[in-house]
Amino acid sequence: MSSPNSSIESVLVENRVFPPSDAIAKAARISGMAGYEALCAEAEKDFEGFWARLARENLQWTKPFTRTLDESNAPFFQWFADGELNASANCLDRHIGTPTENKTAIIFEADDGAVTRITYKELLARVSQFANALKAHGVGKGDRVLIYMPMTIEGVIAMQACARIGATHSVVFGGFSAKAVHERVIDAGAVAIVTANYQMRGGKELPLKAIIDEALATGGCDTLRHVFVYERTPTVCNMVEGRDKTFAQALAGQSTECPPVAVGAEHPLFILYTSGSTGKPKGVQHSTGGYLLWAKLTMDWTFDLRPDDIFWCTADIGWITGHTYVTYGPLAAGATQIIFEGIPTFPNAGRFWQMIERHKCSIFYTAPTAIRSLIKAAEGDAAVHPARSDLSSLRILGSVGEPINPEAWMWYYKHVGGERCPIVDTFWQTETGGHVITPLPGATPLVPGSCTLPLPGITAAIVDETGNDVANGAGGILVIKRPWPSMIRTIWNDPERFKKSYFPEELKGYYLAGDGAVRSADRGYFRITGRIDDVLNVSGHRMGTMEIESALVAKTDLVAEAAVVGRPDDVTGEAICAFVVLKRSRPTGEEAKQIANELRNWVAKEIGPIAKPKDIRFGDNLPKTRSGKIMRRLLRSIAKGEAITQDTSTLENPAILDQLAQTN
Ligand code: PRX
Repeated sequence: MSSPNSSIESVLVENRVFPPSDAIAKAARISGMAGYEALCAEAEKDFEGFWARLARENLQWTKPFTRTLDESNAPFFQWFADGELNASANCLDRHIGTPTENKTAIIFEADDGAVTRITYKELLARVSQFANALKAHGVGKGDRVLIYMPMTIEGVIAMQACARIGATHSVVFGGFSAKAVHERVIDAGAVAIVTANYQMRGGKELPLKAIIDEALATGGCDTLRHVFVYERTPTVCNMVEGRDKTFAQALAGQSTECPPVAVGAEHPLFILYTSGSTGKPKGVQHSTGGYLLWAKLTMDWTFDLRPDDIFWCTADIGWITGHTYVTYGPLAAGATQIIFEGIPTFPNAGRFWQMIERHKCSIFYTAPTAIRSLIKAAEGDAAVHPARSDLSSLRILGSVGEPINPEAWMWYYKHVGGERCPIVDTFWQTETGGHVITPLPGATPLVPGSCTLPLPGITAAIVDETGNDVANGAGGILVIKRPWPSMIRTIWNDPERFKKSYFPEELKGYYLAGDGAVRSADRGYFRITGRIDDVLNVSGHRMGTMEIESALVAKTDLVAEAAVVGRPDDVTGEAICAFVVLKRSRPTGEEAKQIANELRNWVAKEIGPIAKPKDIRFGDNLPKTRSGKIMRRLLRSIAKGEAITQDTSTLENPAILDQLAQTN
C-alpha cells in the first residue's frame, strides 16, 4: 500500500466510477440523482420551508415551532427556537406503542465476546431509572454532567438520561488523561461525573475511576458534587464517601418511569471538546432540535436505513461520530445497532468481520485508519482476512473521520463489500453535528477517495481567501455558505473564539470548516485535501499541534522549546512528529531514545496516549526566521524525509536543517 500522499496524487487522476445498481437505486429512499436533485431544488426554492417540513416530519415536538431560522444575531443562528421537545423522548418514547418497542435497540458485544441485547422498551426503562437517580441527586435542567465511560450500553444510558432531564452532557473519551478531564470539568462547570470503575480493552482491565480521582484531586473543581460509578468489572476501586456512588447504590429504589423534560429547541444537548489551532480545546456546543433532526435524517438519507437493518458504527461515544451515529441517530430512527466494547485486533484482527457475520450486520460504518490496519493484518495472515467470514448480510459501507485513500477504498469495496455495497465516504466534523458532504447510496455514482456532493440544504462551496468561489479543478477553502440546523451554536464560555474561528470577517459570513478542498472538473465532486490550520488528523482523531507543543514545554525541567508537525503515515493517516530543544545539550544514541520515551509518556499523561508523538527529534534549536517565527513548513518537509527545496534565505540558522534531518 502506498502512502496517503501518493494516494492523494492518484485521486487527481481517479477515473473509476461506481454508480449504484438499478436494484439498489430503485429500492432506496432517495432514488437516483433525480431524487437527490429534487431535494436540493426544494431547499433552494424555499430554504426555510424545506427545513421546517423536515423538522415537523422527523421529530416529535411537545410545542410546535412557529419560526424556522433566526439570523438576527448571526453567526449565533437559531433554529426552531420557540419549539419545545425532548431528545430522549425522540429516541425512545416515540417508539413505545409501535412495533419498534419490542425491537432490539442495542446488541452489545463485550470485549470478551459476551453478547447482551436490550429492546427499546427496556432501554427506556433503564434510561428513565438513571434519569431519576440523577434527579434524586439534585441534577437537573441546565446542569452539566461529564461522562467518562467505556463503550457500553450504560454509556448510552448516561447520555440519554441527561437528555431526558435537560442536563447538558459532556462526554470525554476514555483515553484522555486526568489533566484533560480536570480542564473539562472546570470549563464546563460540571456538577456530576458518570464513570466506570474499569474498562475492558483487548483483554486488559484499564482504570477509569482512578483517573477521575486523580483529576478531582488536582483541586479547583468547585462545582462538582457527585461521581456515579458503573461497576463494569468485579474489581473494587477507590470510593470517596459522600461524593461517589456505584450505579447499584444510585439506582436502588428509583422508578423506571421518568417523564421527559421538554426543553427549547436551542437548549444545549451537549458540549463536546475538540482540538483547534490553539493550545486549549474548544467546547463545541450543540442544540437539541436542529442537532437531533440531522442525526435522525442522515440515518435515513446517508444510510438509507430500513426497519430490518442491523447498523454498526464502530466509533466511541467519546467522539462526535459516537454521539450522532451511536447515541442519537440510530435510536431516533428506530434502528437495531451493534455496540462493541473492545478493539478490532482482539482476540485477532478478524474481529470486525466475525462480528459482522455473527450479528448479520447490514450497515457498517468505520474509519479509514481501521480499514488500513486491517488490510495490513489480512495481508499478513489469511486467517483474519474478511474472506474467512460470511459478509453477505452487508448492504452499505461507510467511512468517516479522514480522507480514505483509493487503495483502501477499493479493498473495502471488494473484500468487505463484495463489490455490491456502496461506500458512503462521509465528510463532516464535530462542529457540523452530522454528515454534510457524502454520497447517497441509492443515488450518487461513487468515485474512490471523494466524498462527492453536499447533502440537500447544505450550501458547501470552495472559495479563495476573500470568500469568492473558485472554479472546479482549482483548490481552495471549504466553506458552508448558509446555516444548517445541526451546526455548532457556540464555543462554551467563549463566543468570541466561536466567531473568530468559524466566521472570519474576510469570508463573507460563511462557515469556515478548516479544511482545504477541490471539486472535480467533470462532476463537481468534492475531495478534501486536509486541514488548513494547525490541526492534525491521527487515526481519525483530531489533535492540535499547539496542544501537543504546550504539553511538551510543560515538562519544564527538560524541554526548552518544541514544535510539532504532522507527516503522512500509511496506517494512521498522519503521524505526530515533534522537534524538541532540551534545556541540556542535544542527546544522541541511547540517551536520545530514552528521553524521547520519557517525553512520549509525559504527553500521554498530559493529554492522553493518542497524542504521543511517533517521532521525536532533538536539535540545538529550531529553524526560525530572523523575527523568531518557527518555520513549520520546513519542519514538515524534514518530518516527511523530503529534501528541502523551499527558500531558506530568511532563516536565521540554516545549518539547523541538516542537524534536524539526521534521525536520532
Ligand atoms: O479534516 C476533516 C476530517 O476530520 C475533521 C473533523 O474531525 P472531527 O471533528 O474529529 O470529526 C471527525 C468525525 C466526523 C475534518 O475537518 N474528516 C472527517 N471526515 C472526513 C474527513 N476528511 C476527509 N474525508 C472525510 N470523509
